[in-house]
Amino acid sequence: MPDEFPADSYLKFQKKMPGATYVIQPSIKMCFDDGKLAVGKRVFDAGCGRGFHTKRFLEWAKEYLPKTPNVHLEVQSIVDLKIPSDIEKFDVVTSIFVLHFINKREDLRKAIHNLSCLLKSGGTLIACFPNFEAGFEWPRDEALKFGIGMSFDESAGFKDGLAAKINIYQGNEIKVSMGAYLWLRSTYQEFLEEAGFEKINFLSPIVSEEGKNEFGAEFFHNLLNPPKDIFVKAVKK
Ligand SMILES: C[S@@+](CC[C@H](N)C(=O)[O-])C[C@H]1O[C@@H](n2cnc3c(N)ncnc32)[C@H](O)[C@@H]1O
Repeated sequence: MPDEFPADSYLKFQKKMPGATYVIQPSIKMCFDDGKLAVGKRVFDAGCGRGFHTKRFLEWAKEYLPKTPNVHLEVQSIVDLKIPSDIEKFDVVTSIFVLHFINKREDLRKAIHNLSCLLKSGGTLIACFPNFEAGFEWPRDEALKFGIGMSFDESAGFKDGLAAKINIYQGNEIKVSMGAYLWLRSTYQEFLEEAGFEKINFLSPIVSEEGKNEFGAEFFHNLLNPPKDIFVKAVKK
């Protein structure tokens, strides 16, 4: 896990950002079969950061269970993950906005392989990352509206692993800028298949009813058409 990730600024930003609360969280919940996939399950959240989304998995499980499940935290990179040979494998592995911080194709391959190794046969992987296929359309007014945007060196062309900057705004200013790498969906598909996944589905995010009530559906239109982020849900063979 890279030391330089601005985890505290990111958490502060997530708490205020309508996209995180009203789009990303309900979309993760959708991938968790409306939360039911968290119930009584072993879940590994790879690259959990400050746990903004991980906490929700526990809440969904608690809706059905009387007590808080056990939580264990470990600091490792998913690229060079050390997995004890006697580990009890997981029912669900999530990786929310992590894979696009990997800058080499071979490392992405290794990371997806490692996530697969953590899962039981029949277990589910849920990941999300920026949707490269959405293209270069990240207008500044949308970035200011959502507090986050992406910039590229477009002269480099539309190529796999394109370097990008994810910019977090405060007012009109960029507060934090993080380097990221945009991998094509076909690359994810290839590495997922190679790592032993089937039923690989790329899913568009959704907006929650709360989000529509608070901001109106139109507010989120450009974020979802085409979707700026994409989810993948896949089952380990
Ligand atoms: C945008 S944050 C997302 C955090 C959390 N998943 C969330 O959605 O709130 C990206 C996270 O990925 C982590 N990360 C980046 N590269 C990683 C790697 N190779 N192995 C493990 N974690 C990594 C960073 O440390 C950071 O916590």
